Amino acid sequence: MELIKVTDHYAPAVALIELNRPKELNALNPQLMGELRDSLVRLDKDDTVRAIIITGNERAFAAGADIKQMADKSAIDMLVLDQFSTWDQIRKVKKPIIAAVSGFALGGGCELAMMCDMIVASETAQFGQPEIKIGTIPGAGGTQRLTRAVGKAKAMELILTGRFISAQEAHFYGLAIKVVPVEMYLQEAVTLAKEIAAMSPIAVQLAKEAVNRSFETHLDEGLTLERKNFYLTFASQDQKEGMAAFVEKRKPEFKGK
Ligand code: HXC
Repeated sequence: MELIKVTDHYAPAVALIELNRPKELNALNPQLMGELRDSLVRLDKDDTVRAIIITGNERAFAAGADIKQMADKSAIDMLVLDQFSTWDQIRKVKKPIIAAVSGFALGGGCELAMMCDMIVASETAQFGQPEIKIGTIPGAGGTQRLTRAVGKAKAMELILTGRFISAQEAHFYGLAIKVVPVEMYLQEAVTLAKEIAAMSPIAVQLAKEAVNRSFETHLDEGLTLERKNFYLTFASQDQKEGMAAFVEKRKPEFKGK
């Protein structure tokens, strides 16, 4: 891996992926996205990993798709490049993914953070969809995910003006779950990841699928999926262990079986 750094066991059962093009503020080019996809697909299959963190550095999570590489492309070049198939594969990852965001999360960087399951932000984080300022619009889910996260009016403001919002504002609008001082954002994400990693990975995966479905379908269909996944947890040893531990007043030990 050249443009990302992967630590499979950064903390027990927690993998860390660091975007690593610091000079370009982690601008997302096809190579970086390909490496990210390959790592996520691999970690998704690794039983020893139960939660994944994606982060950048203090200055930038990612300042968007690589404008220099896109600038001269034609519509057909973009179509043939088919970069969004990589994004689609990332979207299919079943394990929980936390974005630990400091500095710029703009354009595709904001979209990548929103494609994760939760965002932990440092006080210095700035979110935005500034594509309008360079004559285009979000292409990796920004118009959809930002609208669902912050509501239509705020999404319109950000997408039509390209304005940035601070970490505090992102928290106020429900985009970030927590804002902490810059020295703590990664540690905060690790704490969250470890807490999730201590749960039944089967239940976590089924819950993630059901929550995501609420974005994608009508209530009836979402409720049906939730119910099926709820029943499915009763086929796991982890559900028996979790409920037995409650009754016996002890801590459960989830094995992912
Ligand atoms: C390529 C980028 C880049 C980007 C920054 N750089 N963002 N290169 N693509 N998206 C490069 C700069 O060219 C510069 O390199 C170096 O990173 C440092 O950036 P500066 O601009 O010098 O830093 P600063 O003055 O602090 O400004 C930071 C910034 C600004 C506000 C984040 O760089 C900026 O506006 N970047 C573009 C943000 C953006 O428009 N994102 C959306 C892209 S479109 P050099 O070599 O010149 O020093 C998009 C569509 C998504 O994301 C579609 C789906 C994938």
